[in-house]
Amino acid sequence: MPARRSNLALLAHLCVSLAAVARGAAATSYSVVDYGAVADGRTNCAGAFLSAWDAACAAEGPAAVVVPAGEFLVSRARFSGPCRSGAVTVDIAGTVLAPVPYAGVQLWIVFQNVDGVAINGGTLDGRGQAYWACRRAGGGSSCPVATRSLTIYRSRNVLIQGLTSLNSAGIHVTVQSSTGVAIVDTAVLAPGDSPNTDGIHIKQSSDVTVRNARIGTGDDCISMVEGSSDVWIQGISCGPGHGISIGSLGDTPEQLAVRNITVRAVTLAGTTNGLRIKTWAKANSGIVDGVAFSDVVMRDVRNPIIVDQNYCPGNVSCPTEGSGIKITNVSYTDVVGTSATPVAVRFDCSPSRPCTGITMRNVRLSYGEQPGAAESLCRNAHGVAYGQVVPPNCLADQEMLCYK
Ligand SMILES: *[C@@H]1O[C@H](CO)[C@@H](O)[C@H](O)[C@H]1NC(C)=O
Ligand SMILES: *[C@@H]1O[C@H](CO)[C@@H](O)[C@H](O)[C@H]1NC(C)=O
Ligand SMILES: *[C@@H]1O[C@H](CO)[C@@H](O)[C@H](O)[C@H]1NC(C)=O
Repeated sequence: MPARRSNLALLAHLCVSLAAVARGAAATSYSVVDYGAVADGRTNCAGAFLSAWDAACAAEGPAAVVVPAGEFLVSRARFSGPCRSGAVTVDIAGTVLAPVPYAGVQLWIVFQNVDGVAINGGTLDGRGQAYWACRRAGGGSSCPVATRSLTIYRSRNVLIQGLTSLNSAGIHVTVQSSTGVAIVDTAVLAPGDSPNTDGIHIKQSSDVTVRNARIGTGDDCISMVEGSSDVWIQGISCGPGHGISIGSLGDTPEQLAVRNITVRAVTLAGTTNGLRIKTWAKANSGIVDGVAFSDVVMRDVRNPIIVDQNYCPGNVSCPTEGSGIKITNVSYTDVVGTSATPVAVRFDCSPSRPCTGITMRNVRLSYGEQPGAAESLCRNAHGVAYGQVVPPNCLADQEMLCYK
């Protein structure tokens, strides 16, 4: 196993590479325009983008793919490594447009098998409006595939900085099977009624940082599913959207663990959920161990704090034995604000594998502006509360059993 670099070390490493590139040190530029791209928003530039990437990727030293100002239509693009250059930047000044009405592919822009890539700036416009219209019209399986805008796959040491992602048909930014990924100073924007347009989605990945993001979508602002570990999320403003979610977990039998997730300095406004952990009501196995939420402000959030282990849409194909996902060691510290419904705190845990090791410290949530009107609900939930906790704590005493 190679030594794992911390997020800070990763950022420092990437920033040094970036600074070298910014100084024009040894960086060679490859402008997509020189490879035939036309900034008219109509000419398909996919080939030009890929040619510029291939040249930069094959360069001896630091290399930069340059996308100048203007609108570039790209049908789809898979930027593959491994690269000979250990430091490729993709500097985007302009806007990259997805095809209309549909891209018709599952993944629009992909970086895969790369190590040491920085994507700077730029706007990705997924132009998902026609796809959403099909979904809203009840098209269901007759609609084309929900295209995801940007995917980082099987990669290491990737920095995404200053990106704006607009109107993805499906998930905006996906990090999958990767390690050492930092997403900083990002804006993700789609309408609140756009279906399943998650902002940032993390799966089977470790050492992932999301810092300073403004996210408004029609689904989770940030979702972390199986195999997410050592994730650091800080400085997020979320809304509209479904909040910050761990899950859904447990839809398939063997789920990789979710461990060591830190979420801090987050504002949620007008979202359906605030801080959510959600698992299917199926007896599948898995664990969520070590989640620390802190410094969270909620405004008019429907379910500010929620653990839902009975997720079973339409009651179809979910047996009754309860979720097999164990949730343990989850803390909520300095969480304040308003709930849009009476039940501001809901721990609805699995009857077969109860939640353990939940800690609440200085949690103050009110229902609307009425002090004392919020309620909490606990089922199969064990833990302790410290400081002021409103609505009143309903956790059962800490289960003394070893909660691993
Ligand atoms: C938890 O993850 C953070 C990064 O988010 C990392 O710095 C820290 O070392 C991890 N802690 C453990 C116990 O692995
Ligand atoms: C709980 O999780 C945190 C990370 O959020 C970790 O640092 C701590 O060691 C865990 N505690 C136990 C008892 O496992
Ligand atoms: C699903 O089943 C539960 C328990 O049997 C019941 O309370 C609930 O109303 C059902 N929900 C739907 C949408 O059928």
